[in-house]
Amino acid sequence: MACAGTGVALFGGTSVLLTACGGCNKEGMMDMGGAATEVVEGAFDAMLPVPPTMPATAATLSAQRTTAGVFKGKTSSVSGYQSGGILGSTLTATKGDTVNAVFQNNLNEASNLHWHGLLTPANMDGHPKDVAQPGGSLTYAFPVVNRAGTYWYHPHPDMKTAKQAYEGLAGFFLVTDAEEQALGLPSGEYDLPLVIQDKRADSNGNFSYSPDMTDMMNGLLGESVLVNGVHSPFAEVVARTYRLRLLNGSNGRIYNLALSNGEAFILIGSDGGLLAAPEAVTAILLAPGERADVLVSFAGQAVGSEVFLESKTFDGGEYQGKQAFSILKFKVAESSTNSFEIPAVLSGYALLPEASATRSRSFDISNGGGHGGHGGGMMAMHNIGGKSYDESRIDETITAGATELWTFDNTEGIDPHPMHLHGALFQVLDRTGGRGQVFPHEKGWKDTVLAMPGEKVRVIAAFGQEKGVFVFHCHNLEHEDSGMMLQMEIN
Ligand code: C2O
Ligand code: CU
Ligand code: CU
Repeated sequence: MACAGTGVALFGGTSVLLTACGGCNKEGMMDMGGAATEVVEGAFDAMLPVPPTMPATAATLSAQRTTAGVFKGKTSSVSGYQSGGILGSTLTATKGDTVNAVFQNNLNEASNLHWHGLLTPANMDGHPKDVAQPGGSLTYAFPVVNRAGTYWYHPHPDMKTAKQAYEGLAGFFLVTDAEEQALGLPSGEYDLPLVIQDKRADSNGNFSYSPDMTDMMNGLLGESVLVNGVHSPFAEVVARTYRLRLLNGSNGRIYNLALSNGEAFILIGSDGGLLAAPEAVTAILLAPGERADVLVSFAGQAVGSEVFLESKTFDGGEYQGKQAFSILKFKVAESSTNSFEIPAVLSGYALLPEASATRSRSFDISNGGGHGGHGGGMMAMHNIGGKSYDESRIDETITAGATELWTFDNTEGIDPHPMHLHGALFQVLDRTGGRGQVFPHEKGWKDTVLAMPGEKVRVIAAFGQEKGVFVFHCHNLEHEDSGMMLQMEIN
């Protein structure tokens, strides 16, 4: 493939001139020349904060610029959903509740809330066109129809999702139901929501969003890995079983999560709630947007011992997975007589047979043609099937309540793409090419699935009953904001 010379790529509302030929490799893809960002660990001497909980039935979230103690001894300027602090409260609800959340936009740009993983009416879903202007507010009201699980919320304004999430806007939304409650899983202080995010900070500890071309191609990868808004924190635990709700809330970074003592995670849930049965896994490759609900036992660990949550190396294309690093330190501070027994059966959810799909759709997410601005002319940097986001165009039309087979085909691609659907939950059927299998944390109900370079992933999606326009996109937020998002109308 020959280079077409100079193209113009659009992102963030500005045009960037790409001088292409000098950086083309033999496949005709542009090599942006950026080395993988090295993660720099901190001292693991700052306490892990746990966001306060707030009932989703009476919530107020005020997006604003504020400050937070992200790095020990420094005050960082960040965004949060309250004054004085990054991120937002953990919203809690029981299936069947009616959410009532007031969103106050105290930012100097348009914003909104998207309830990632929750099935909501189209006008409550945080579509990029449904925003509050600076000083404005929006009220979100909808019934919680999802099963118990670990969901989350974040902004979704057009071309500003990456920036606003990066600056600190995100929070958990935990749903419980009778099925989950009957299991007696670890709760209260033994149920820890952990959002993992990487940031790039200056020497004052401030992170401002200014992605360069490499960041726009790869997703912005930061050198500092935060948990619940604090760099390299530690948590004091008692020697018993904990429930950890792991959320990759990063813009672009993928983590291969493991425990430093080699113990397994007992996986109990994925994006959309509990698995059928627990499964022991020693590593979980978690892409942006994905969740893994795990039990970790510190029982039998001596008081004073330390266990790290870490990310191991993995085969992640050109710029991910090259380095192992620690994320969070658990310090066993107290013994315990608690003897939690892991239930043998977790949930009786039904598997959707492939034959129940009434339609198939396939999406080429290899980003051929658009990648790096080849071909000249104006084009977005990332696309789905050659198309990039256009609010005035409906790309797919779907019948409410339909079951469909969707294929995300990254066979020719060179970048990982975690693909995410609004307005539906799905089950992963199979993966061909690349890793060639469905992993334990991809069982159950999902809303985001990772397609590595060379992979084709098939999912069976159950669309909701709510009619209207929804989006689906890559959850690498730089990819999303530079066009890797389409619209579907459910009717
Ligand atoms: Cu978490 Cu449309 O996104
Ligand atoms: Cu979403
Ligand atoms: Cu992508």
